[in-house]
Amino acid sequence: MSTRIVIDCDPGHDDAIAILLALASPELELVGVTTVAGNQTLDKTTRNALVTLEIAGRSDIPVAAGADAPLRRQLRTAAHVHGDSGLDGPELSEPSALPVEAHAADLLAELIEPGVVLVPTAPLTNVALMLERHPEVRDRLDRIVWMGGSIAEGNVTPAAEFNAFVDPEAAAAVFASGIPITMVGLDVTHKALFTRAHAERLRGAGGAGRFVAELSDFFQAFHERSYAFDGSPIHDAMAVAHVIDPTLLTTRRANVAVETRSEFSDGRTVVDLRGVTGREPNADVGVGVDAARFLELLVSRIESLA
Ligand code: RIB
Ligand code: CA
Repeated sequence: MSTRIVIDCDPGHDDAIAILLALASPELELVGVTTVAGNQTLDKTTRNALVTLEIAGRSDIPVAAGADAPLRRQLRTAAHVHGDSGLDGPELSEPSALPVEAHAADLLAELIEPGVVLVPTAPLTNVALMLERHPEVRDRLDRIVWMGGSIAEGNVTPAAEFNAFVDPEAAAAVFASGIPITMVGLDVTHKALFTRAHAERLRGAGGAGRFVAELSDFFQAFHERSYAFDGSPIHDAMAVAHVIDPTLLTTRRANVAVETRSEFSDGRTVVDLRGVTGREPNADVGVGVDAARFLELLVSRIESLA
């Protein structure tokens, strides 16, 4: 019996790879994709989600566009990471499919039934809007597995990871919702680097393999410049991989609070691993990953796509 998932994303190189991993994995059924402004503007993240599904021959999966800006802040994109298109690197034609009319917040509410896992790999604006518009969804959403946040260092500021930084108010609302949530943060995603050797394995492996290899060529250049890494963290794919095989990650129960009123730390996910605040644990936080098994799962599944 496969697990039905919905991905809320801002493609983005790693979002696109996460979508392909979901499509390539028999343990999962991707029943919908929603898009939000983040890595790039909403028009670009939506186009990129449609393009990615088309490359995998899955334009049958509904895509709904959502918020074009955070709940209360100016949008901050990551063109320096993902390029002007949001998927720089591969030569891509325009998608033939269109998004559905519905707003992402409404499609999420429609698709979320008991047993469905929501996998946001972006700022949580759409998820917060869904909870505002459809509060009853809280009672039927089994789990959120979010790529975002960090226990230690951020990546946009020393304090904050991008998906939390762009919309701290949305992240705070989701962590306060009472919905079971797993946080897949930088502390684990930075421990599993997709290298040029992985890219070479995929370059000759059909359309999806070549697409991922070319995405990683561009993504790798940023990580070499900015982190001197010899590979790229495919952040969002790790959230999907956790749903496929929960033994890949080691998690700890902790309270996660999101800073929204700080000069230097807005968007920080304050993870109380030792319970010193007295705040009730509200999340399962990734603290370790079997990097080799994650990367082998990722590459072998992408290889298996036609
Ligand atoms: O900080 C990494 C996260 O921000 C990833 O989801 C990446 O796609 C960007 O959205
Ligand atoms: Ca993302």
